[in-house]
Amino acid sequence: MLQKAIEKIDPGVAKIEAGPQETETKHSKRKSEPKFTWCRKHLLGLQDLSREELLHILDTAVGFEEISRRSIKKAPALRGKVMVNLFFEDSTRTRNSFTLAASRLSADVLEFTAKASSVSKGETLRDTARNLEAMGIDIVVIRHSSGGAPHLLSQCIDACVVNAGDGFHEHPTQGLLDIFTIRQLRGDLKGLKVAIVGDITHSRVARSNIWGLHTLGAEVFLVGPATLMPSGVNQLPVSVCHDFDEIIGQMDVLNMLRIQFERIGSPVLPSVREYSRLFGLTVDRMKRAKKDVIVMHPGPINRGLEIDSEVADGPNSTILKQVSNGLAVRMAVLFLVNHAAADKTKRSEATVEMI
Ligand code: MLT
Repeated sequence: MLQKAIEKIDPGVAKIEAGPQETETKHSKRKSEPKFTWCRKHLLGLQDLSREELLHILDTAVGFEEISRRSIKKAPALRGKVMVNLFFEDSTRTRNSFTLAASRLSADVLEFTAKASSVSKGETLRDTARNLEAMGIDIVVIRHSSGGAPHLLSQCIDACVVNAGDGFHEHPTQGLLDIFTIRQLRGDLKGLKVAIVGDITHSRVARSNIWGLHTLGAEVFLVGPATLMPSGVNQLPVSVCHDFDEIIGQMDVLNMLRIQFERIGSPVLPSVREYSRLFGLTVDRMKRAKKDVIVMHPGPINRGLEIDSEVADGPNSTILKQVSNGLAVRMAVLFLVNHAAADKTKRSEATVEMI
């Protein structure tokens, strides 16, 4: 009855309720591919995801993009579900994007900020999460300064866990939205040359991009001073370069990172001006890049340091497009993990019935 009524108001809603359809778009040729079933109830990183899994999230996000273009920007896919934003670190884009993604899918959202919680009284992460879970939480979106915090959580609670950035480790939804943006503009990623420039050591964005891009066939170049390259960089599936000007002309994508001053303990740069001269994406340096190069940045931007304002706001920049795409990608992720969890419950209920 309700479904019929919803269909009457907005036929697209019914489609999303049933799961994004097998649509064929510029970069999606899934009609002819065998049906893929998403089984993960947690999204902890991109390192372990297969090509099929990555493409499935990206294709699902294509289906969700349309909701943001409706006059009533709502679908009932997560109706009756509760998502908590469990943030132990500051955030603007990621937190608001998850909140909006969940509310567009009709979930209830709880906002948790460590500074204003019992964490300041000594409560552990596990206790905080288990107490929230006792209130009937279905999905926990966690950001934490310690790498591995989302993994720990996924082992001690039943709810779905989505990593919104853990230490220097991974930021999977940022990696996905970056890849989604490149795919939207270029189609296939195979053979594309992507430079990730700047503070690689402290960047979880870099790591998620590396894994996702590599699995999808792009060639990744890490560019920056040796002092901002992590130890073990040679074991990553990347090429390392310390001279930006040497490679800039060959790149299809330039992903500029913020220097994470808040995480840097000892001085790693002789001077900020020197850094900007050698690794900043200045108007002058842009002249050496391909005409149609894609310029990305995960934000927040330090204008005039890693990127000039004219370039950040210029025609090659996809910075705001990335933010918009983040919404569709996060809707897809919330939808998929929740469905995987529901399927698991159905399967275990079926087993109990059989006994
Ligand atoms: C992050 O949380 O890692 C951001 O999205 C990127 C940054 O802070 O530079």
